[in-house]
Amino acid sequence: MSKKDFLTLKDFSREELLHLLNLALEYKADPSIYHDALKGRTIGMIFEKPSTRTRVSLEAAAFRLGAHAIYLSPRDTQLGRGESIEDTARVLSRYVDLITARVFDHKNLEALARHGSVPVINALSDRFHPAQVLADLMTLKEKKGDLEGLVLTFVGDGANNMAASLAIGGAILGMEVRIATPEGYQPAGDVLEFVEQNAGTLKVFHDPEEAVQGADCVYTDVWVSMGDESQKQERMAAFKPFQVNLRLFERAKDDAVFMHCLPAHRDQEVTSEVADHTRSVIFDEAENRLHTAVALYLHLLLDR
Ligand code: CP
Ligand code: NVA
Repeated sequence: MSKKDFLTLKDFSREELLHLLNLALEYKADPSIYHDALKGRTIGMIFEKPSTRTRVSLEAAAFRLGAHAIYLSPRDTQLGRGESIEDTARVLSRYVDLITARVFDHKNLEALARHGSVPVINALSDRFHPAQVLADLMTLKEKKGDLEGLVLTFVGDGANNMAASLAIGGAILGMEVRIATPEGYQPAGDVLEFVEQNAGTLKVFHDPEEAVQGADCVYTDVWVSMGDESQKQERMAAFKPFQVNLRLFERAKDDAVFMHCLPAHRDQEVTSEVADHTRSVIFDEAENRLHTAVALYLHLLLDR
């Protein structure tokens, strides 16, 4: 069997995604079932950017399954001194059973997957963050049941990795994804194309109030993603009208949930009133990173 990577959700069918979600839910309900399922395996973790949730959930999930994870910052490997990504992929594949990587340039992730012989998991790139969206979909399934037909409104940077992966995941699972974003921050062409090809529903709005009307879920993310720091000033100005505050959140459905991949910048993209609202599920999303990491490992390494 050829190896399978997890670089974007584009390569996953509806059935496969639902299977991963069910596996994660099964594990969450009884973490003892896969105890030591990956005993003796090793996971390499290349992280070019900081991380709390992704790093710790991937490491903890590996440990829970009996595997050993090796965290590699640019300071720790020869990548930081100019060894090519291609050679690094070939070398690491001789030692580890799976590579997970957080990179600035999504192309480096593709190169790792192409030149390595072990599965590669995207731990966030400039373009996509599918591991986060897997946890988000699991959370929505727990809170709302069937995902098909749900309306999710993402308010903020419509061109970032989270918006792209939510649009793709939503299209695969038959959700209506709305993106409320300023002019100039629309999702990239390949994302729009994927949604269209998969008969998904993606609507771009420039008025956040209109976009959240009737939404089952209001989602936001930072205004300045890792790597976009040089644009901080213009972004803070452009996204100011797109803050998720109580007034905006209350325009969504009465039982709407608030979601955020975290880290949150309170009083920028979200106020504490919303982040700490009784219908905020941000820490469930964070917890579900662990359960979905387990599901991903089991699926990619054991074909579960
Ligand atoms: N949501 C998320 O990926 O968080 P970290 O950057 O802390 O990993
Ligand atoms: N869009 C954010 C997500 C952080 C988890 C970033 O890339 O920094």
